[in-house]
Amino acid sequence: MKFFALLAAFAANMGLGNPIKPNELTMDQWIARQSAISVSAIEQGITPAGGLPGAMVASPSSIHPDYRFHWVRDSALTYLTVFRLYEAASGSFKQKLMRYLMNFASFSAYIQASASSLGEPKFYINGQPFTGGWCRPQNDGAALRAIMLMKFAGSLIENGQDEFARTNLVPVIRNDLNFVKTVWNQSSCDLWEELSGQHFYTLIVQRRALLDGAAMGEFLGQDSKELTHVASQIGSAILNHWSPDKGYFVATLNQTDGLGYKTSNLDASIILGILHGHTYDGFLPYTDPRVLATAERLMNVFSGKFSINQIAAVPGVAIGRYPEDMYAGTNFNGGNPWVLLTAALSRYYYLAGEEAKSNGDSSNAVAYRNRAEALMQRLKYHAPADGIWAEQMDRDTGFMTSAPNLIWSHVEVLEAFAARSSTGN
Ligand code: NOJ
Ligand code: NOJ
Repeated sequence: MKFFALLAAFAANMGLGNPIKPNELTMDQWIARQSAISVSAIEQGITPAGGLPGAMVASPSSIHPDYRFHWVRDSALTYLTVFRLYEAASGSFKQKLMRYLMNFASFSAYIQASASSLGEPKFYINGQPFTGGWCRPQNDGAALRAIMLMKFAGSLIENGQDEFARTNLVPVIRNDLNFVKTVWNQSSCDLWEELSGQHFYTLIVQRRALLDGAAMGEFLGQDSKELTHVASQIGSAILNHWSPDKGYFVATLNQTDGLGYKTSNLDASIILGILHGHTYDGFLPYTDPRVLATAERLMNVFSGKFSINQIAAVPGVAIGRYPEDMYAGTNFNGGNPWVLLTAALSRYYYLAGEEAKSNGDSSNAVAYRNRAEALMQRLKYHAPADGIWAEQMDRDTGFMTSAPNLIWSHVEVLEAFAARSSTGN
Protein backbone atom coordinates (compact mmCIF):
# COMPACT_ATOMS: atom_id res chain seq x y z
CA MET A 1 0.00 0.00 0.00
CA LYS A 2 2.62 2.43 1.13
CA PHE A 3 4.82 1.31 -1.75
CA PHE A 4 2.12 1.99 -4.33
CA ALA A 5 1.36 5.35 -2.82
CA LEU A 6 5.05 6.17 -3.11
CA LEU A 7 5.15 4.93 -6.66
CA ALA A 8 2.15 7.08 -7.60
CA ALA A 9 3.70 10.09 -5.92
CA PHE A 10 6.94 9.41 -7.74
CA ALA A 11 5.15 9.17 -11.08
CA ALA A 12 3.33 12.43 -10.35
CA ASN A 13 6.52 14.19 -9.40
CA MET A 14 8.27 12.94 -12.50
CA GLY A 15 5.65 14.85 -14.41
CA LEU A 16 4.23 11.87 -16.29
CA GLY A 17 1.28 13.22 -18.23
CA ASN A 18 2.61 16.67 -17.50
CA PRO A 19 5.75 17.59 -19.39
CA ILE A 20 6.80 20.54 -17.26
CA LYS A 21 9.10 19.85 -14.32
CA PRO A 22 9.75 22.71 -11.91
CA ASN A 23 13.44 21.86 -11.75
CA GLU A 24 13.86 22.39 -15.48
CA LEU A 25 12.54 25.93 -15.21
CA THR A 26 14.43 29.01 -14.09
CA MET A 27 13.25 30.55 -10.82
CA ASP A 28 11.36 33.29 -12.66
CA GLN A 29 9.72 30.85 -15.07
CA TRP A 30 8.69 28.62 -12.22
CA ILE A 31 7.25 31.53 -10.22
CA ALA A 32 5.18 32.67 -13.19
CA ARG A 33 3.81 29.19 -13.81
CA GLN A 34 3.22 28.39 -10.13
CA SER A 35 1.50 31.76 -9.57
CA ALA A 36 -1.05 31.03 -12.27
CA ILE A 37 -1.75 27.58 -10.85
CA SER A 38 -2.05 28.84 -7.28
CA VAL A 39 -4.39 31.70 -8.22
CA SER A 40 -6.64 29.28 -10.05
CA ALA A 41 -6.54 26.88 -7.08
CA ILE A 42 -7.78 29.71 -4.87
CA GLU A 43 -10.57 30.49 -7.32
CA GLN A 44 -11.64 26.86 -7.26
CA GLY A 45 -11.80 26.92 -3.47
CA ILE A 46 -14.13 29.91 -3.47
CA THR A 47 -17.89 29.31 -3.54
CA PRO A 48 -17.59 25.52 -3.91
CA ALA A 49 -20.40 23.50 -5.47
CA GLY A 50 -23.22 23.17 -2.96
CA GLY A 51 -21.94 26.08 -0.87
CA LEU A 52 -23.14 29.61 -0.26
CA PRO A 53 -21.48 32.40 -2.26
CA GLY A 54 -18.35 33.58 -0.46
CA ALA A 55 -17.74 30.32 1.39
CA MET A 56 -14.25 28.94 0.85
CA VAL A 57 -13.03 25.44 1.48
CA ALA A 58 -9.69 24.90 3.21
CA SER A 59 -9.16 22.34 0.47
CA PRO A 60 -11.52 21.01 -2.20
CA SER A 61 -10.47 17.53 -1.11
CA SER A 62 -12.56 15.59 1.35
CA ILE A 63 -9.99 12.85 1.91
CA HIS A 64 -6.74 12.68 3.93
CA PRO A 65 -8.33 14.48 5.86
CA ASP A 66 -11.71 16.02 5.03
CA TYR A 67 -10.95 19.73 4.60
CA ARG A 68 -14.07 20.68 2.63
CA PHE A 69 -15.07 23.23 5.26
CA HIS A 70 -14.89 26.97 5.65
CA TRP A 71 -12.32 27.80 8.33
CA VAL A 72 -12.51 31.41 9.48
CA ARG A 73 -8.71 31.59 9.74
CA ASP A 74 -7.82 30.03 6.36
CA SER A 75 -10.49 32.03 4.55
CA ALA A 76 -9.57 35.42 6.04
CA LEU A 77 -5.95 34.87 5.02
CA THR A 78 -7.00 33.73 1.56
CA TYR A 79 -9.28 36.71 0.97
CA LEU A 80 -6.43 39.01 2.06
CA THR A 81 -4.51 37.58 -0.88
CA VAL A 82 -7.59 37.90 -3.11
CA PHE A 83 -7.71 41.55 -2.07
CA ARG A 84 -4.04 42.07 -2.98
CA LEU A 85 -4.69 40.48 -6.38
CA TYR A 86 -7.78 42.68 -6.78
CA GLU A 87 -5.75 45.83 -6.22
CA ALA A 88 -3.27 44.85 -8.92
CA ALA A 89 -5.87 43.53 -11.39
CA SER A 90 -7.79 45.22 -14.16
CA GLY A 91 -10.73 44.61 -16.44
CA SER A 92 -13.07 41.68 -16.05
CA PHE A 93 -10.67 39.78 -13.76
CA LYS A 94 -10.81 42.71 -11.34
CA GLN A 95 -14.60 42.67 -11.44
CA LYS A 96 -14.62 38.97 -10.74
CA LEU A 97 -12.33 39.44 -7.73
CA MET A 98 -14.58 42.24 -6.49
CA ARG A 99 -17.52 39.85 -6.58
CA TYR A 100 -15.56 37.32 -4.54
CA LEU A 101 -14.79 39.98 -1.94
CA MET A 102 -18.39 41.15 -1.73
CA ASN A 103 -19.61 37.58 -1.36
CA PHE A 104 -17.07 37.01 1.39
CA ALA A 105 -18.48 39.97 3.28
CA SER A 106 -22.02 38.65 3.05
CA PHE A 107 -21.01 35.08 3.91
CA SER A 108 -19.11 36.43 6.94
CA ALA A 109 -22.23 38.27 8.14
CA TYR A 110 -24.18 35.04 7.71
CA ILE A 111 -21.82 32.85 9.74
CA GLN A 112 -21.46 35.46 12.47
CA ALA A 113 -25.20 35.08 12.98
CA SER A 114 -25.34 31.30 12.61
CA ALA A 115 -22.76 30.47 15.28
CA SER A 116 -23.22 30.93 18.99
CA SER A 117 -19.69 32.31 19.40
CA LEU A 118 -17.34 34.29 17.16
CA GLY A 119 -14.68 31.90 18.43
CA GLU A 120 -16.14 29.13 16.24
CA PRO A 121 -13.38 28.42 13.69
CA LYS A 122 -15.10 26.06 11.26
CA PHE A 123 -18.32 26.03 9.19
CA TYR A 124 -20.04 23.83 6.69
CA ILE A 125 -20.11 25.45 3.26
CA ASN A 126 -23.83 26.07 3.76
CA GLY A 127 -22.87 28.49 6.54
CA GLN A 128 -23.85 26.38 9.54
CA PRO A 129 -21.32 25.93 12.33
CA PHE A 130 -19.44 22.63 12.32
CA THR A 131 -20.79 20.18 14.85
CA GLY A 132 -18.43 17.81 16.56
CA GLY A 133 -15.66 20.36 16.86
CA TRP A 134 -12.82 20.21 19.36
CA CYS A 135 -10.56 22.76 21.00
CA ARG A 136 -12.76 25.85 21.13
CA PRO A 137 -12.99 28.77 21.08
CA GLN A 138 -10.27 29.76 18.59
CA ASN A 139 -9.93 33.50 18.96
CA ASP A 140 -7.59 34.37 16.08
CA GLY A 141 -10.21 33.96 13.33
CA ALA A 142 -12.43 36.94 14.13
CA ALA A 143 -9.33 39.17 14.33
CA LEU A 144 -8.05 38.00 10.95
CA ARG A 145 -11.46 38.47 9.38
CA ALA A 146 -11.68 42.02 10.77
CA ILE A 147 -8.21 42.81 9.40
CA MET A 148 -9.29 41.56 5.97
CA LEU A 149 -12.64 43.37 5.93
CA MET A 150 -11.07 46.64 7.11
CA LYS A 151 -8.62 46.54 4.20
CA PHE A 152 -11.51 45.98 1.84
CA ALA A 153 -13.54 48.76 3.50
CA GLY A 154 -10.60 51.16 3.15
CA SER A 155 -10.45 50.55 -0.57
CA LEU A 156 -14.23 50.89 -0.98
CA ILE A 157 -14.10 54.25 0.80
CA GLU A 158 -11.28 55.40 -1.46
CA ASN A 159 -13.40 54.52 -4.46
CA GLY A 160 -16.46 56.38 -3.21
CA GLN A 161 -18.36 53.24 -2.18
CA ASP A 162 -18.69 54.28 1.46
CA GLU A 163 -22.32 53.32 1.54
CA PHE A 164 -21.69 49.74 0.50
CA ALA A 165 -18.98 49.45 3.13
CA ARG A 166 -21.17 51.00 5.82
CA THR A 167 -24.07 48.66 5.16
CA ASN A 168 -22.30 45.39 4.42
CA LEU A 169 -18.90 45.47 6.12
CA VAL A 170 -19.07 47.76 9.14
CA PRO A 171 -21.54 45.64 11.17
CA VAL A 172 -19.39 42.53 10.64
CA ILE A 173 -16.18 44.36 11.54
CA ARG A 174 -17.74 45.85 14.66
CA ASN A 175 -18.87 42.44 15.88
CA ASP A 176 -15.38 41.06 15.39
CA LEU A 177 -13.66 43.99 17.08
CA ASN A 178 -16.05 43.92 20.03
CA PHE A 179 -15.38 40.19 20.35
CA VAL A 180 -11.60 40.67 20.26
CA LYS A 181 -11.79 43.48 22.81
CA THR A 182 -13.72 41.26 25.18
CA VAL A 183 -11.90 37.94 24.86
CA TRP A 184 -8.25 38.78 24.24
CA ASN A 185 -7.15 37.95 27.77
CA GLN A 186 -9.17 34.76 28.04
CA SER A 187 -7.74 31.34 27.38
CA SER A 188 -8.48 30.05 23.87
CA CYS A 189 -7.39 27.30 21.52
CA ASP A 190 -4.34 27.91 19.33
CA LEU A 191 -4.29 28.15 15.55
CA TRP A 192 -3.19 24.51 15.28
CA GLU A 193 -6.35 23.48 17.11
CA GLU A 194 -4.43 21.56 19.72
CA LEU A 195 -4.05 23.37 23.02
CA SER A 196 -5.57 26.21 24.98
CA GLY A 197 -3.90 29.10 26.74
CA GLN A 198 -2.56 32.50 25.68
CA HIS A 199 -0.89 32.39 22.30
CA PHE A 200 1.60 34.72 20.65
CA TYR A 201 -0.10 34.24 17.28
CA THR A 202 -3.64 34.89 18.51
CA LEU A 203 -2.55 37.94 20.49
CA ILE A 204 -0.55 39.57 17.72
CA VAL A 205 -3.35 39.32 15.15
CA GLN A 206 -5.79 40.60 17.78
CA ARG A 207 -3.50 43.55 18.45
CA ARG A 208 -3.31 44.38 14.78
CA ALA A 209 -7.09 44.12 14.35
CA LEU A 210 -7.65 46.64 17.14
CA LEU A 211 -5.02 49.06 15.81
CA ASP A 212 -6.38 48.82 12.26
CA GLY A 213 -9.79 49.46 13.82
CA ALA A 214 -8.48 52.48 15.70
CA ALA A 215 -7.15 53.93 12.44
CA MET A 216 -10.69 53.96 10.99
CA GLY A 217 -12.52 54.32 14.31
CA GLU A 218 -14.77 57.15 13.19
CA PHE A 219 -16.02 55.30 10.14
CA LEU A 220 -16.61 52.16 12.21
CA GLY A 221 -18.29 54.07 15.01
CA GLN A 222 -15.68 52.76 17.43
CA ASP A 223 -13.75 54.54 20.15
CA SER A 224 -10.22 54.71 18.70
CA LYS A 225 -8.68 55.63 22.04
CA GLU A 226 -10.14 52.59 23.71
CA LEU A 227 -9.02 50.29 20.89
CA THR A 228 -5.50 51.71 21.07
CA HIS A 229 -5.45 51.27 24.82
CA VAL A 230 -6.47 47.61 24.66
CA ALA A 231 -3.97 47.06 21.83
CA SER A 232 -1.18 48.33 24.05
CA GLN A 233 -2.19 45.92 26.81
CA ILE A 234 -2.09 43.12 24.24
CA GLY A 235 1.34 44.36 23.16
CA SER A 236 2.67 43.86 26.70
CA ALA A 237 1.14 40.38 26.85
CA ILE A 238 2.86 39.49 23.57
CA LEU A 239 6.27 40.60 24.82
CA ASN A 240 5.87 38.34 27.86
CA HIS A 241 6.32 35.47 25.42
CA TRP A 242 10.02 36.27 25.08
CA SER A 243 12.01 33.68 26.99
CA PRO A 244 15.52 34.94 27.74
CA ASP A 245 16.47 31.46 28.94
CA LYS A 246 15.37 29.71 25.80
CA GLY A 247 16.40 32.51 23.49
CA TYR A 248 13.17 32.55 21.48
CA PHE A 249 9.56 33.67 21.66
CA VAL A 250 7.44 30.87 23.11
CA ALA A 251 4.11 30.12 21.48
CA THR A 252 1.87 29.60 24.50
CA LEU A 253 1.72 30.84 28.08
CA ASN A 254 -0.68 29.80 30.84
CA GLN A 255 -1.71 26.62 29.09
CA THR A 256 -5.06 25.42 30.39
CA ASP A 257 -5.78 22.39 28.24
CA GLY A 258 -4.64 20.21 25.34
CA LEU A 259 -1.38 18.49 24.37
CA GLY A 260 1.04 17.75 27.13
CA TYR A 261 4.09 17.00 25.03
CA LYS A 262 4.83 20.35 23.38
CA THR A 263 7.71 20.94 25.74
CA SER A 264 9.93 23.26 23.71
CA ASN A 265 7.11 25.76 23.11
CA LEU A 266 9.08 26.70 19.97
CA ASP A 267 6.67 27.15 17.07
CA ALA A 268 6.69 28.47 13.52
CA SER A 269 3.45 30.28 14.34
CA ILE A 270 5.66 33.06 15.73
CA ILE A 271 6.84 33.80 12.19
CA LEU A 272 3.27 33.66 10.88
CA GLY A 273 2.28 36.06 13.66
CA ILE A 274 5.03 38.53 12.76
CA LEU A 275 3.73 38.48 9.17
CA HIS A 276 -0.03 38.44 9.75
CA GLY A 277 0.09 40.77 12.75
CA HIS A 278 2.49 43.33 11.32
CA THR A 279 1.59 46.95 12.03
CA TYR A 280 4.61 48.98 10.84
CA ASP A 281 4.61 51.01 14.07
CA GLY A 282 7.93 49.81 15.43
CA PHE A 283 6.38 46.95 17.38
CA LEU A 284 8.40 43.79 16.73
CA PRO A 285 9.89 44.80 13.40
CA TYR A 286 11.16 42.01 11.16
CA THR A 287 14.72 42.68 12.27
CA ASP A 288 13.98 42.62 15.98
CA PRO A 289 16.81 40.46 17.38
CA ARG A 290 14.31 38.31 19.29
CA VAL A 291 12.33 37.57 16.13
CA LEU A 292 15.51 36.83 14.19
CA ALA A 293 16.67 34.50 16.98
CA THR A 294 13.35 32.64 16.87
CA ALA A 295 13.55 32.18 13.11
CA GLU A 296 17.09 30.93 13.38
CA ARG A 297 16.19 28.46 16.10
CA LEU A 298 13.39 27.03 13.99
CA MET A 299 15.82 26.44 11.12
CA ASN A 300 18.39 24.85 13.41
CA VAL A 301 15.89 22.47 14.93
CA PHE A 302 14.25 21.41 11.69
CA SER A 303 17.45 21.07 9.72
CA GLY A 304 18.31 18.16 12.00
CA LYS A 305 14.84 16.65 12.10
CA PHE A 306 13.99 16.24 8.43
CA SER A 307 16.21 14.19 6.18
CA ILE A 308 15.18 16.20 3.09
CA ASN A 309 17.08 19.09 4.65
CA GLN A 310 20.28 17.06 4.24
CA ILE A 311 20.20 17.05 0.43
CA ALA A 312 23.46 18.87 -0.09
CA ALA A 313 22.56 20.38 -3.44
CA VAL A 314 19.42 22.09 -2.16
CA PRO A 315 19.77 25.07 0.16
CA GLY A 316 17.14 26.36 2.59
CA VAL A 317 15.59 24.53 5.51
CA ALA A 318 12.05 23.21 5.12
CA ILE A 319 10.33 23.80 8.46
CA GLY A 320 7.39 22.26 10.28
CA ARG A 321 5.06 23.55 12.98
CA TYR A 322 6.99 22.62 16.14
CA PRO A 323 9.62 20.05 17.07
CA GLU A 324 7.23 17.70 18.92
CA ASP A 325 4.50 17.70 16.23
CA MET A 326 2.83 14.32 15.63
CA TYR A 327 0.04 15.33 13.26
CA ALA A 328 -0.83 13.51 10.03
CA GLY A 329 -0.19 9.97 11.05
CA THR A 330 3.42 10.60 11.86
CA ASN A 331 4.40 8.73 14.97
CA PHE A 332 7.73 10.48 15.14
CA ASN A 333 8.40 13.85 16.70
CA GLY A 334 8.38 16.85 14.44
CA GLY A 335 5.74 15.76 11.93
CA ASN A 336 6.58 16.83 8.40
CA PRO A 337 7.73 20.12 6.91
CA TRP A 338 4.81 22.35 5.95
CA VAL A 339 4.62 24.18 2.62
CA LEU A 340 2.90 27.23 4.07
CA LEU A 341 5.43 27.61 6.90
CA THR A 342 8.48 27.21 4.67
CA ALA A 343 6.96 29.80 2.33
CA ALA A 344 6.20 32.12 5.25
CA LEU A 345 9.80 31.86 6.46
CA SER A 346 11.01 32.81 3.00
CA ARG A 347 8.66 35.79 2.92
CA TYR A 348 9.81 36.78 6.39
CA TYR A 349 13.46 36.89 5.30
CA TYR A 350 12.69 38.95 2.17
CA LEU A 351 10.97 41.49 4.39
CA ALA A 352 13.72 41.40 7.02
CA GLY A 353 16.28 41.98 4.26
CA GLU A 354 14.34 44.96 2.97
CA GLU A 355 14.03 46.40 6.46
CA ALA A 356 17.76 45.92 7.13
CA LYS A 357 18.49 47.73 3.88
CA SER A 358 16.35 50.69 4.81
CA ASN A 359 18.11 50.78 8.19
CA GLY A 360 21.43 51.07 6.34
CA ASP A 361 22.52 47.61 7.44
CA SER A 362 23.58 46.42 4.00
CA SER A 363 25.48 43.31 5.01
CA ASN A 364 22.51 41.82 6.87
CA ALA A 365 20.22 42.97 4.06
CA VAL A 366 22.15 40.70 1.74
CA ALA A 367 22.38 37.85 4.25
CA TYR A 368 18.63 37.80 4.91
CA ARG A 369 17.74 38.00 1.25
CA ASN A 370 20.05 35.10 0.55
CA ARG A 371 18.20 33.06 3.15
CA ALA A 372 14.89 33.96 1.57
CA GLU A 373 16.20 32.91 -1.83
CA ALA A 374 17.53 29.64 -0.43
CA LEU A 375 14.12 28.86 1.04
CA MET A 376 12.55 29.68 -2.31
CA GLN A 377 14.88 27.18 -3.98
CA ARG A 378 13.84 24.62 -1.39
CA LEU A 379 10.17 25.15 -2.30
CA LYS A 380 10.91 24.98 -6.00
CA TYR A 381 12.84 21.74 -5.55
CA HIS A 382 9.95 20.00 -3.82
CA ALA A 383 7.22 21.66 -5.87
CA PRO A 384 4.87 19.10 -7.38
CA ALA A 385 4.88 18.91 -11.18
CA ASP A 386 1.20 19.84 -11.36
CA GLY A 387 1.71 22.82 -9.03
CA ILE A 388 -0.91 21.57 -6.57
CA TRP A 389 0.56 22.01 -3.10
CA ALA A 390 -0.58 19.85 -0.23
CA GLU A 391 -0.29 20.90 3.41
CA GLN A 392 2.94 19.03 4.03
CA MET A 393 6.03 17.60 2.36
CA ASP A 394 7.12 14.14 3.37
CA ARG A 395 10.10 14.60 5.67
CA ASP A 396 12.09 11.85 3.88
CA THR A 397 11.00 12.09 0.25
CA GLY A 398 9.80 15.67 -0.10
CA PHE A 399 6.64 14.57 -1.90
CA MET A 400 3.41 16.33 -1.10
CA THR A 401 1.45 14.70 1.70
CA SER A 402 -1.63 15.35 3.89
CA ALA A 403 -4.46 17.64 2.81
CA PRO A 404 -3.98 17.72 -0.95
CA ASN A 405 -4.56 21.10 -2.57
CA LEU A 406 -4.51 23.09 0.66
CA ILE A 407 -5.51 26.62 -0.31
CA TRP A 408 -3.55 28.17 2.57
CA SER A 409 -0.36 26.64 1.09
CA HIS A 410 -1.10 28.35 -2.23
CA VAL A 411 -1.74 31.60 -0.36
CA GLU A 412 1.53 31.67 1.57
CA VAL A 413 3.51 30.71 -1.53
CA LEU A 414 1.90 33.58 -3.46
CA GLU A 415 2.68 35.96 -0.60
CA ALA A 416 6.30 34.83 -0.60
CA PHE A 417 6.46 35.47 -4.36
CA ALA A 418 4.97 38.93 -3.80
CA ALA A 419 7.52 39.72 -1.09
CA ARG A 420 10.30 38.54 -3.39
CA SER A 421 9.26 40.86 -6.18
CA SER A 422 8.47 43.88 -4.00
CA THR A 423 11.86 43.77 -2.23
CA GLY A 424 15.48 43.73 -3.24
CA ASN A 425 15.24 46.27 -6.05
C1 NOJ B 1 -6.54 18.51 13.33
C2 NOJ B 1 -5.97 19.87 13.61
O1 NOJ B 1 -6.46 20.80 12.75
C3 NOJ B 1 -4.47 19.77 13.55
O2 NOJ B 1 -3.91 21.02 13.70
C4 NOJ B 1 -4.06 18.85 14.65
O3 NOJ B 1 -2.67 18.72 14.66
C5 NOJ B 1 -4.72 17.48 14.48
N1 NOJ B 1 -6.14 17.63 14.35
C6 NOJ B 1 -4.40 16.56 15.64
O4 NOJ B 1 -4.97 17.04 16.82
C1 NOJ C 1 -5.09 22.32 10.43
C2 NOJ C 1 -4.31 23.52 10.86
O1 NOJ C 1 -3.65 23.20 12.06
C3 NOJ C 1 -5.23 24.72 11.05
O2 NOJ C 1 -4.46 25.84 11.36
C4 NOJ C 1 -6.01 24.97 9.79
O3 NOJ C 1 -6.91 26.04 10.00
C5 NOJ C 1 -6.77 23.73 9.36
N1 NOJ C 1 -5.87 22.61 9.28
C6 NOJ C 1 -7.44 23.92 8.00
O4 NOJ C 1 -6.46 24.18 7.02
